[in-house]
Amino acid sequence: MSALTTALYDVIERRRDVRAEFTGSPVADDVLMRVLGAAHRAPSVGMSQPWDFVVVRDTATRRVFRDHVAHERDTFAASLPPERRSTFDRIKVEGICESSLGIVVTHSQSRGGQHVLGRHAIADAGLYSTVLAIQNLWLAATAEGLGLGWVSFYREDFLQGLLGIPDDVRPVAWLCLGTVSHLATVPDLERHGWRSRRPLADAIHHDTWQMKERNRA
Ligand SMILES: Cc1cc2nc3c(=O)[nH]c(=O)nc-3n(C[C@H](O)[C@H](O)[C@H](O)COP(=O)(O)O)c2cc1C
Repeated sequence: MSALTTALYDVIERRRDVRAEFTGSPVADDVLMRVLGAAHRAPSVGMSQPWDFVVVRDTATRRVFRDHVAHERDTFAASLPPERRSTFDRIKVEGICESSLGIVVTHSQSRGGQHVLGRHAIADAGLYSTVLAIQNLWLAATAEGLGLGWVSFYREDFLQGLLGIPDDVRPVAWLCLGTVSHLATVPDLERHGWRSRRPLADAIHHDTWQMKERNRA
């Protein structure tokens, strides 16, 4: 394998969803621009580039969002049976205030006009494109030695109101980005016994979809 290939697989392997390991030091502007540049180079259906990035540094805004997320965390916790609840109670789901900054990635389905090449049959292809920008950002952050954590414990209309996002633009993710003490080698959810990685063999099908017993849950 070439050094480039090894480096790429290494970054993919090292990438982690970070909640507890943020140290809160500033991220240099040139580094931030590089990771946003990586996000902006993502593939997109019909070249629609439907993403935007709201960089949130304001402490008061972050506190308001953190409180909203805490409320949504409670809502989810209340839906769980007792045994799952006690496992979930040990899991941290965000590092909004501890991270260096937030990046809210938004999706505009109207970007690119009415005739987006390749989206006429699959409307979600637009959303897929925005999610690819997030993955690029996540891998670039990892390569830069930063941590990133995706927060989805929120109501879209709340975040739209908080950041002044127009009604027809969807906030797809609040990403906590920042300097970290280290990146864990095992995903948090696995470490806390919530859910483990499936074997690759279970995810691969040949020629037709075959229901595998272990794939049901
Ligand atoms: C769409 C999406 C939403 C997520 N939302 C949250 C979240 O709200 N809180 C959280 O702690 N992790 C969240 N995660 C992170 C996942 O829990 C994490 O990716 C998964 O457990 C695997 O761990 P790893 O990313 O460290 O490999 C989210 C990930 C994705 C892709």
